[in-house]
Amino acid sequence: MSETLTIIDNRTGKKFDIPIENESIRATDLRQIKVKEEEFGMLCYDPAFMNTASVKSRITYIDGDRGILEYRGYPIELLAEKSTSFLEVAYLLINGALPTPAQLDQWRSDIKRHTFVHENIKKLMAGFRHDANPMGMFISMIAALSTFYPDAKEIMDAPKRMKQIHRLIGKVTTIAAFAYTHSKGMPYVYPSDDLSYAGNFLTMMFKIGESKYRVNPVLEHALTVLFILHADHEQNCSTNTMRSIGSSHIDPYSAVAGAAAALWGPLHGGANEAVLRMLDEIGTVRNIPTVIKDVKEGRRKLMGFGHRVYKNYDPRAKVIKTLADEVFEVTGKNMKLEIALELERIALEDEYFVKRKLYPNVDFYSGLIYEAMGFPLDFFPVLFAIPRTAGWLAHWQEHILDPEQKIARPRQLYVGERGRSWVPLDKR
Ligand code: SDX
Repeated sequence: MSETLTIIDNRTGKKFDIPIENESIRATDLRQIKVKEEEFGMLCYDPAFMNTASVKSRITYIDGDRGILEYRGYPIELLAEKSTSFLEVAYLLINGALPTPAQLDQWRSDIKRHTFVHENIKKLMAGFRHDANPMGMFISMIAALSTFYPDAKEIMDAPKRMKQIHRLIGKVTTIAAFAYTHSKGMPYVYPSDDLSYAGNFLTMMFKIGESKYRVNPVLEHALTVLFILHADHEQNCSTNTMRSIGSSHIDPYSAVAGAAAALWGPLHGGANEAVLRMLDEIGTVRNIPTVIKDVKEGRRKLMGFGHRVYKNYDPRAKVIKTLADEVFEVTGKNMKLEIALELERIALEDEYFVKRKLYPNVDFYSGLIYEAMGFPLDFFPVLFAIPRTAGWLAHWQEHILDPEQKIARPRQLYVGERGRSWVPLDKR
């Protein structure tokens, strides 16, 4: 038995043996299949990349049928339980191994040294209306950072590249907190480098005017775990965007801004906000049957349900669900949890959802925790983008260093008109 695919082109009777590697074939090996010599050759047509691997990666492994998620080979449940710091997991994603104590200390110091933003960022922020969407502000400010660090374009200079990675992981929390503070019309709270990554972020968010503010350790731990769970998810829409933008060899600030824009979509990282708006709209458990009917009749989607890869329970949703109890102990129970739990119970029994393998995903429960912690709904996508910046940067670095990669430029199947004659305006 040979590791090949034999394809017979019934138009010509020709036979082709296509090599199989990693349970896949190279799409370019199909180019030889043609009727006339002058033809371009056979293409794969795969809208939304439903069955296309565009990269080889060593960062994150997902088995959607078994609900398995691993960062650099470590199960997500283990990292959520054992790791006490988001920066430890960010180090793992970027560098490929868990850090030694000395490496973690250096990594923390490198990143904490870069949590401050140039004072002009505040002037740029001031240009936004008071009710500007914080994700729009976040994306704009990340892109603006590229104008402060011209050396970021030297992406093949390893030390300079790593410095931008430190800067981005450090500054995304500050920019996020500044966007929130701007919307409140309150003074900015500067980063404190003696706090954990999540603790510093919560302080910049909620210390406003409270000199005795201390982060609640339960909430600090919960946000650390949420950041760990959201840090990466292999070739999702925003990571694919990061790799595609990065393939043109632009600086990482511009690429992260583009990836964050992709994440903002309600089908992707914007779903956590959409779930809460859906629960608000449902209002009471009694209204659930009507919502389920609307979903089954195709009038709406059940936000926070379904996934392109997971055809089983999203392992992150399981961890988040248990985390919710911890947080509600401190914040008081979010009354929408009852609606969410009943919605899940009904959906998991209903043939429509079972047949389509629609389970709660990472976004279904996370918003309940964020709301209970005091974050406004429109801030939820920003909470997703903060940790995912580490994942985007890990994939960006892997992509630009991959000798097989070139600038991303897919082909198309042209189905439009050809060779049309010009008709003067007065004759149309
Ligand atoms: C994230 O890719 C990642 O890894 C993303 C992410 C990450 O960490 O980066 O995990 C984060 O984005 C999680 C997903 C958050 N989005 C939502 O919760 C929005 C609601 N979910 C859907 O829009 C949908 O499930 C997607 C977008 C997540 C996945 O859609 P697919 O894979 O393109 O599947 P599909 O739309 O083709 O659906 C297949 C069938 C369809 O029914 P039929 O046409 O076969 O009758 O399932 C139905 C869909 O209508 N369906 C849903 C549904 N999701 C899919 N029906 C009702 N409610 C839903 N949520």
